[in-house]
Amino acid sequence: MKLAFIGIGNVGFALANNLQKKGHEVIVAHDDVKSESVVKAQSQNPNFSALPIQEAIDHSEVIFLATPFKFNEQILVPLDFKGKVLVDCTNPVGAGISHGLESKISGAEKVQEWSKDAIVVKSFTIYGFENLQNSSYPNYNVKPAMLIAGDDSEAKEKVTYLNTDLGFDTVDTGALSQALHLEHMTLLWVKMVRANGHHPNFTWGYLERN
Ligand SMILES: NC(=O)c1ccc[n+]([C@@H]2O[C@H](COP(=O)([O-])OP(=O)(O)OC[C@H]3O[C@@H](n4cnc5c(N)ncnc54)[C@H](OP(=O)(O)O)[C@@H]3O)[C@@H](O)[C@H]2O)c1
Repeated sequence: MKLAFIGIGNVGFALANNLQKKGHEVIVAHDDVKSESVVKAQSQNPNFSALPIQEAIDHSEVIFLATPFKFNEQILVPLDFKGKVLVDCTNPVGAGISHGLESKISGAEKVQEWSKDAIVVKSFTIYGFENLQNSSYPNYNVKPAMLIAGDDSEAKEKVTYLNTDLGFDTVDTGALSQALHLEHMTLLWVKMVRANGHHPNFTWGYLERN
């Protein structure tokens, strides 16, 4: 699949690098294609190309958003997504690891509001980037769960396909409004690891009995 990444830092690079190694084509989307993170990413993976954001969208099937949440509105509003899938990997984080929108609405729904002609799916946010760099837990016979949310089932199928390539077991939690709960799961993981000393190499698993 042709993939564009808006944001190629900790999260964007981990996902893009693993997906490129699985055979996907990666375009780094940045209006300054010589910016520090773009140059660094291309030096670490010379298979990445780079284009201004709108051009990168025009050349891609799925677009990943992995930028600091505070920049999202200014980045997204001028863009034309032409009905393509936008994977929201961002989290609105406020003071003291709280929800940055005071839990009134999810960041993903704001992302959808700012990019009206995109089909937004929330994914890749419930863990730190360490699990996006390496999702392998070889001592267990279940894969780490990746919880996703979105309003469009075809778009979620595409994200599920990419999730599987990244080694995750996709759990579809329902409509995009569920993203608010995923963002709280993120805060839980972040508080446990970044504040309370849990090891970053841990994930959630989905176990179901009929
Ligand atoms: N870190 C984690 O463990 C983690 C895990 C899950 C989700 N998240 C969420 O994922 C998002 C990214 O986190 P991160 O840790 O990857 O951040 P990061 O390492 O700081 O990377 C941010 C990226 O966004 C790019 N960017 C900023 N403004 C831009 C613009 N106007 N146009 C294009 N690119 C722009 C930066 O490029 P330049 O600096 O070169 O401009 C950089 O490549 C955040 O919303 C975070 O909450 C983080």
